Amino acid sequence: MKGRIENLLNEIGALTAQVPDEVELLRLKYLSKKGLVSVLFDDFRNIPAEQKKEIGQLLNHLKNASQEKIESLKAAFDEKDEVHEQGMDLSRPVDHMNPGTRHPLSIVRNEIIRIFGQIGYTVAEGPEIEDDWHNFSALNFPPEHPARDMQDTFFIAKEPEILLRTHTSSVQIRTMETEKPPIRKIFPGRVFRNEAISARAHCIFHQVEGLYVDKNVSFMDLKQTLLYFAREMFGEQTKIRLRPSFFPFTEPSGELDVSCNICGGKGCNICKYTGWVEILGCGMVDPAVLENCGIDSKIYTGFAFGMGIERITLLKYQVKDLRLFFENDLRFLRQFTGTL
Ligand code: PHE
Repeated sequence: MKGRIENLLNEIGALTAQVPDEVELLRLKYLSKKGLVSVLFDDFRNIPAEQKKEIGQLLNHLKNASQEKIESLKAAFDEKDEVHEQGMDLSRPVDHMNPGTRHPLSIVRNEIIRIFGQIGYTVAEGPEIEDDWHNFSALNFPPEHPARDMQDTFFIAKEPEILLRTHTSSVQIRTMETEKPPIRKIFPGRVFRNEAISARAHCIFHQVEGLYVDKNVSFMDLKQTLLYFAREMFGEQTKIRLRPSFFPFTEPSGELDVSCNICGGKGCNICKYTGWVEILGCGMVDPAVLENCGIDSKIYTGFAFGMGIERITLLKYQVKDLRLFFENDLRFLRQFTGTL
């Protein structure tokens, strides 16, 4: 009996059918009243009592397995019918899916946010349309300063002067006007300058500016922060150097160079054979600017820095022409597979 059950189990397990009618024939052959499986159940009556439990279990297993097998053969044809009716061809190669990539400027902006986020900087944003106070006056630009000139600034209205912000330093002012120190923030955003478009300049570009105001903030803190940033962005081996510079809203002011990550400092056309590339402007916030925002400059000091995202991206990815960032050429954009 055991042997017959096993043989049938193997036989049924191996069954196949080419057409739906064949499945019905198989069902009749095995599972109908006179079918091979049912016949075994009839013989069950003659089994000695002590074997009944074991054989009974085997028989039930056989019956379930046979029913499942017949059902699955049937289901396979049902599926095929459906595919056929809907005119689908499952063997057809699929269309290539393009998952898309982030824009390189977004990758680098997010990386800058991540790097400063690790040392406690949070992100703040401000309006792109600004007034003279937030973009210039509060930042200590004298009335006759050339940056206010029509050649640099896109003015929208006169009296009061409304303009497209020329830098994200305007968000420094907005933050200091509304928050009390300690302030530790970065300000990413779009800025506008009336400049001719070329490989190195555009009338719209992106900046990230940083501001740290607290008691006892020193130039040493600024330098160490920038060294940390440069190494995170361009690699552990990166060196920095600060050169004196001038901005109306910082005193002293500096410009930060990093060792050229393309030639490793040996000299190449990116660093104009100097081994160094400039990446940002910085300095200690001028006490007059703190006072303009209602912060007591006898108690608090601060530093600020500002960088162009395009410039960092050019250096990081060795892109030669800044216009590529704005042309939306997929052949260019698809090369950036950063996931940030
Ligand atoms: N706002 C300056 C610019 O656009 C950069 C800067 C920011 C310099 C903060 C010093 C401090 O060029």
